[in-house]
Amino acid sequence: MHQAIVVFEVEGGSDKFIDGHRKDTMPIVNAIKDAGWHAEVLFFHPERADELFNVVVGHFDAYISRVNPGNIPGGEQGYLDFLSRLTDAGLVGMSTPAEMMAYGAKDALVKLRDTDLVPSDTAAYYAVEAFHNNFPTSLSYGERVLKQNRGSTGSGIWRVQLADKGLAATVAPGTALPLDTKIKATEAVDNHTEIRELGEFMDFCDQYIIGANGMLVDMRFMPRIVEGEIRILLVGPHPVFVVHKKPAEGDDNFSATLFSGAKYTYDRPEAWQELIDMFAQVRPVIAEKLGGDNIPLIWTADFMLDTAPDGSDTYVLGEINCSCVGFTSELDMGIQELVAGEAIGRVVEKFAVEIPA
Ligand SMILES: Nc1ncnc2c1ncn2[C@@H]1O[C@H](COP(=O)(O)OP(=O)(O)O)[C@@H](O)[C@H]1O
Ligand SMILES: [Mg+2]
Repeated sequence: MHQAIVVFEVEGGSDKFIDGHRKDTMPIVNAIKDAGWHAEVLFFHPERADELFNVVVGHFDAYISRVNPGNIPGGEQGYLDFLSRLTDAGLVGMSTPAEMMAYGAKDALVKLRDTDLVPSDTAAYYAVEAFHNNFPTSLSYGERVLKQNRGSTGSGIWRVQLADKGLAATVAPGTALPLDTKIKATEAVDNHTEIRELGEFMDFCDQYIIGANGMLVDMRFMPRIVEGEIRILLVGPHPVFVVHKKPAEGDDNFSATLFSGAKYTYDRPEAWQELIDMFAQVRPVIAEKLGGDNIPLIWTADFMLDTAPDGSDTYVLGEINCSCVGFTSELDMGIQELVAGEAIGRVVEKFAVEIPA
């Protein structure tokens, strides 16, 4: 064991601080060093992947990936292949490509739809035919949200409702709506609304299904989103803080992104004890349904409020993120020490299993 962990970044991009690193990268590196291990940042360049592979395999036990999937020179696949080679060579991957896909893809929701976390009528379309065959019926049951898989800023996340409220009241649930039905589509990126025809809008959405990792998730619209999206940030299994993201008021606004004007409040997990307890209970189920050897190192789970038949609050999962979750606003909460401890712990655990003392 080298007692050394490498942190991967790519150069450039709007997520960087003036030192050229993501704002939370050096705090993680320094926390690992403070714990007595070696840590350093290395940059991924696709044309130098072999060179980097040799250096990393020769000097490090593990990697932590701090790379935004949309920001990788040469595309995401080359980077994921590079990470896979490292885990094949015995390094601890935080996270492995398989874990990133399992937790981070939008269809994680579909894999969890037979749990209480996700409405059972949530679907994913991987082919345009399936989308066109099912969505007109799906929309007859009520307002929906269509979610593309690529992107993470609310772009390609559409709230879809019938433009004519009178018509909405008379639609027989389970009958496909005609393709010329007027719909109101609101995109989460900026809450802008467009009146379109259902068939034309579905044609437009085909772009989200076509191509690498393309899919559309079709989920029931959760009206209590106006009370806010509740994000738990976790380091491994430990919830470390909660962000309450309240969409801008008015119109058909439903987006919890900063850009769309949502207001963020940062809370200790104890302020949301009921949600935290529920999540702790279901976390093993999530791990089992999503697969992967490990839960991600730094990840988030986003919830929306719903109401149980007895009137009590329940929580519906809207999304899990794990590819490049930052905690720049919370560096004073000591999260970097937890990250360092969790990362070192995983390496120690792996080597303890492989080379018994
Ligand atoms: N089922 C839903 N009901 C109501 N609002 C939703 C639903 N799903 C997503 N949203 C809203 O849309 C926003 C963006 O969707 P999300 O799934 O988080 O995609 P992204 O990857 O773009 O963050 C969320 O932050 C939330 O405000
Ligand atoms: Mg989101």
